[in-house]
Amino acid sequence: MFCRELNRAKCKTYLIACERTRRAALIDPLRANTARYIAVAAYNGFRLEYAIDTHTHADHRSGTWDVADLTDAKIVMERHAPAPHVNVHVSHDDLLEVGDLRIKVLFTPGHSPDGMSLYVNGCLFTGDTLLIGGTGRADFSGGDAGKQYDAITNLLFALPDDTLVFPAHDYRGNHHSTIEQERTSNARVAGRSREEYVSLMNNLGLPLPDKIQESLQSNQSAIEDDSVKFPDVAQLSGVRQIDVVELQQRLTNAEAPFIIDVREPEEYSDELGHIHGSRLVPLKSLPAKAHEMDDLNGREIVAVCRAGVRSTTAVAILTALGFEQVSNLKGGMVAWNEARLPVER
Ligand SMILES: [Fe+2]
Repeated sequence: MFCRELNRAKCKTYLIACERTRRAALIDPLRANTARYIAVAAYNGFRLEYAIDTHTHADHRSGTWDVADLTDAKIVMERHAPAPHVNVHVSHDDLLEVGDLRIKVLFTPGHSPDGMSLYVNGCLFTGDTLLIGGTGRADFSGGDAGKQYDAITNLLFALPDDTLVFPAHDYRGNHHSTIEQERTSNARVAGRSREEYVSLMNNLGLPLPDKIQESLQSNQSAIEDDSVKFPDVAQLSGVRQIDVVELQQRLTNAEAPFIIDVREPEEYSDELGHIHGSRLVPLKSLPAKAHEMDDLNGREIVAVCRAGVRSTTAVAILTALGFEQVSNLKGGMVAWNEARLPVER
């Protein structure tokens, strides 16, 4: 298997390929380096099958959309990923075929709700779940330190000791590590109970990176232009969340809330379907279309999207525009389907 890290920086992008068929995949491409990736693939005679993000990144703009736009590559993310325009949603234990290679998907949430690791030919691409000597922070964008501990100790540490570990970040100049090395000496995880790990991770006291919400919201929504002025952290954290069971119950009441679905038109009829009676207003057009929704002011509104992330942005925007009773469907249509509630397609 061909495997090369292409950024030579703290933020890692891997190109892997089947040397017999010359089929290849990019893991965690940066938008800024798109031309370089395509050039390296072409130089080696590779055809890019997939552009994969191990999770929704908060520290850089993803290059998957640009790579897919310029090549035949399909965009791959875990099924809880909030963004639109993902071609292939994968789940735990799925296999991605790249020529003779079989890339196994391991669902490893915790750093983010849509985190996955990829295992192929004795190599493990861990995203920001497990880093060399550390772990990715779990204190923003839906992170959960307990789930991260479970994923690392139950799934990743169960792989063979000599598995090579390739993380999405390294701040100390390391190239790779092994499962044995991380299991026995990872400074955050080794020798710690789940409770000790959660307490450690919840008290790291790291500052939030600059522009994190803007960069996150761009990656979560695939909105590249300035059609939407993204809300700030305080506005987002003030959004009222309701869960799928509560919404389903409220929809049977006489005073049922009105549902605005902020996904893209193609998602409205995809495999997740939509909720009966909902109105499609894609997030990108929401600020411009809000005045057409004056009929709804004074009525309770619930915003819905794929994973409940873009719709949180939508609720913050509507609240800022003066809509008073707006809430967000937590977990979006992914959670709605997991609860086996009725959908239309
Ligand atoms: Fe990350």
